[in-house]
Amino acid sequence: MRALAVTIWVFINLIFFGMCGYMYLLWSQYWMYIEKDLYSNSNNYEQQIYYYNRGFLINDSAQSEVKTRTKHSVKDLQNVTIIKNSRPRFPNLQSEDFVLDTVKYRCSEDESTNECDNKVKQYKEKILNELKRVFLDESNVLKHATDQNPYNVHYQGIKENHLNKYRNQLVCEFKRIQFTVIRRSDEPFKSNYLRDLIPKKKFLDNRQYNSCAVVSSAGSLTNSNLGQFIDSHDLVLRFNHAPTVGFEKDVGSKTTVRILNSQVVSKSEFKFLEDNLYRNITLLAWDPSNYTSTLEDWYSRPEFNVFTNYAAYRRQFPKSKFFLLNPRILWQLWDFLQSNSPSRLRRNPPSSGFLGLAALLPRCEYVNVFEYMPSTRVTKRCHYYDTKDNPACTFGVWHPLAAEKLLTYSLNIANDTTTFDRGFMTLLGFKRTNC
Ligand SMILES: *[C@@H]1O[C@H](CO)[C@@H](O)[C@H](O)[C@H]1NC(C)=O
Ligand SMILES: *[C@@H]1O[C@H](CO)[C@@H](O)[C@H](O)[C@H]1NC(C)=O
Ligand SMILES: *[C@@H]1O[C@H](CO)[C@@H](O)[C@H](O)[C@H]1NC(C)=O
Ligand SMILES: *[C@@H]1O[C@H](CO)[C@@H](O)[C@H](O)[C@H]1NC(C)=O
Ligand SMILES: *[C@@H]1O[C@H](CO)[C@@H](O)[C@H](O)[C@H]1NC(C)=O
Repeated sequence: MRALAVTIWVFINLIFFGMCGYMYLLWSQYWMYIEKDLYSNSNNYEQQIYYYNRGFLINDSAQSEVKTRTKHSVKDLQNVTIIKNSRPRFPNLQSEDFVLDTVKYRCSEDESTNECDNKVKQYKEKILNELKRVFLDESNVLKHATDQNPYNVHYQGIKENHLNKYRNQLVCEFKRIQFTVIRRSDEPFKSNYLRDLIPKKKFLDNRQYNSCAVVSSAGSLTNSNLGQFIDSHDLVLRFNHAPTVGFEKDVGSKTTVRILNSQVVSKSEFKFLEDNLYRNITLLAWDPSNYTSTLEDWYSRPEFNVFTNYAAYRRQFPKSKFFLLNPRILWQLWDFLQSNSPSRLRRNPPSSGFLGLAALLPRCEYVNVFEYMPSTRVTKRCHYYDTKDNPACTFGVWHPLAAEKLLTYSLNIANDTTTFDRGFMTLLGFKRTNC
């Protein structure tokens, strides 16, 4: 009797697990089918955007460092370089040599406004759909079961869809994040050698600016002719080692603030202590902590040692305005993004671009954000200053970029021609919204 019961029990279990396995197979086949169907007939340009958003670089930058194998097979895509940590999603696509530089959606001088509007509309649809696909794709558990969680992120909060919210509501949520830098009174700095090296002054002296420009380093700035316009802003924010010399026509020459990641500050190849790029301007460096780390944890184990060169620079230039971001802010911004995304976000800190917005929105009447939403000038070049062989975009796919860009677009008040053809979004400063 007992043996029979056990047999039946085992039998039922077998059937149950068999069914589960079968469902799983059906489910994954279905997704593969959908992907194939969507993309097998699409043109080069769509594929370009598709790959661009997933961190594929077409191989004119095949450098050893960026060739990281993933669990997925990439045998179909020999001519595509996998960027470190990118975890490409759908490798089972037909590959061709993509035509990356396109003029298909650019408006030309001798074109009527109507034609131009049409092109912009088409382009907008493509790029937004693609960003939304990436954004929603993050929720596909099957594809993400193996994702790493290097910062030990455990999010318990709500997951709403920002696409269903009003701009004011989003601004008010954003506004609650207090953008803070490390102060002298913060432990462990209060009681170590850095205390006297941290500026007494506040970040940007708590000043209010009228017009601010956030200049991304995107390749689509090339041939934009935006330089003069960028320089006309009261404050111009740039990132990392993005140069201006030689690129003035497109990116301008004025720099008020630079946001630097800890690699730029710490690695010798960036010549942080020597290069004039980092002089006589306000600097803000950031280094990610773990999701729940205290400042003590972070100080004892930063991702890159930002503190040594911080101290060296501050000793060399005691009057400089060089600040360290409180790494809590990174995760508060991440929480903000996640709470407005129905799907699970990449568990890495937001990009410097988003950090730049968070830094300026409390201090400016309005902020123009250049080439954060890629304009019709989008090319395979990641950065405007890249030489052909630059293994760029590493950070681009590492951050939860699609969510950032879509959310920023929800806050944008510039019209579509300005956003997608001229190449910048306009966001109103926090002061302009009552919460
Ligand atoms: C692109 O990839 C192909 C095949 O892997 C290789 O032969 C070629 O040299 C690569 N091109 C460049 C510019 O790296
Ligand atoms: C890769 O690119 C090279 C040169 O552009 C081309 O000859 C080769 O057929 C491509 N390989 C694949 C697998 O597409
Ligand atoms: C951060 O979290 C990871 C993953 O849990 C862990 O391995 C690492 O030691 C943590 N780092 C710090 C500085 O706490
Ligand atoms: C920075 O300012 C100081 C003092 O005004 C000046 O002597 C120095 O040449 C400036 N450095 C650069 C790189 O502009
Ligand atoms: C978009 O905005 C710009 C600048 O504000 C303006 O010159 C242009 O006429 C607007 N275009 C459309 C289609 O509304």
